[in-house]
Amino acid sequence: MLSSSNSEWFKDWFNSPYYHILYKNRSFVEADLFISNLANYFSFKKEDIILDLGCGKGRHSFSLNKYAERVIGLDLASESIKEANAIKGNALYPDFRVGDMRSFQIEFKFDYILNLFTSFGYFDSLVDNQNVIDTVAKHLEDEGVFVMDYLNSEKVRQNGPSEEMKVIDGIEFQLKKTIDANFVYKNIEFEVNSKKYNFTERVQLFEIESLQKMFEKSGFSVIENFGDYNLNPYFNDSDRMILVGKKETY
Ligand SMILES: C[S@@+](CC[C@H](N)C(=O)[O-])C[C@H]1O[C@@H](n2cnc3c(N)ncnc32)[C@H](O)[C@@H]1O
Repeated sequence: MLSSSNSEWFKDWFNSPYYHILYKNRSFVEADLFISNLANYFSFKKEDIILDLGCGKGRHSFSLNKYAERVIGLDLASESIKEANAIKGNALYPDFRVGDMRSFQIEFKFDYILNLFTSFGYFDSLVDNQNVIDTVAKHLEDEGVFVMDYLNSEKVRQNGPSEEMKVIDGIEFQLKKTIDANFVYKNIEFEVNSKKYNFTERVQLFEIESLQKMFEKSGFSVIENFGDYNLNPYFNDSDRMILVGKKETY
């Protein structure tokens, strides 16, 4: 059985073809709607430089590029970056790159850095989590903006554990969600050509206050907490937990 239960599970799973099959319906339309709401809210300008951190196949990056000319998408999964580049063709932007959000180095200072659709909270150590936010802060202009779109831990706890089966492209995925004090786990089991696979996604359940503290520790003031992609305010039972931090100038 091919399995991924190690602490760096995200390296194998997000780079596997089966991850892309399971989530193939992840919507470019949803991404477009969210980005157009953010564009209205922030009044993105053509000359803004924007980073989509943990961009996957780049659905938000393509959308961002309608508002700002220079958009960079960064992801650890080389297969996703390959697919994003294939969609892009010969255009200069979005400029997709392979890199680790904990330690990336990019030659630009950004006006906005966006970390969307729960592309955080995978790491074992709090130091790694803080490194991500520190590295973001280093890459922002003074008063630059960091948007983190994360799962809402309160709602995940309210919904509790679950099990379901999905058949996609002829593959039967058995999905089992469990929750403990600090993490939500999604166990994914399936079989292809008589070979059994088993992956477990593991995402940390941050309370809003602890994420806010991490932002502040890296030099951000939290200026907004949204609860969904229409940018309604955050409540305990909101669909999402979307933090907006502004880099303080000293
Ligand atoms: C849930 S997916 C979201 C992808 C994309 N933002 C979207 O909405 O389609 C999380 C992404 O984070 C990326 N990721 C995980 N760990 C990473 C790391 N250490 N550095 C950069 N990207 C990482 C994964 O490869 C994956 O593409």
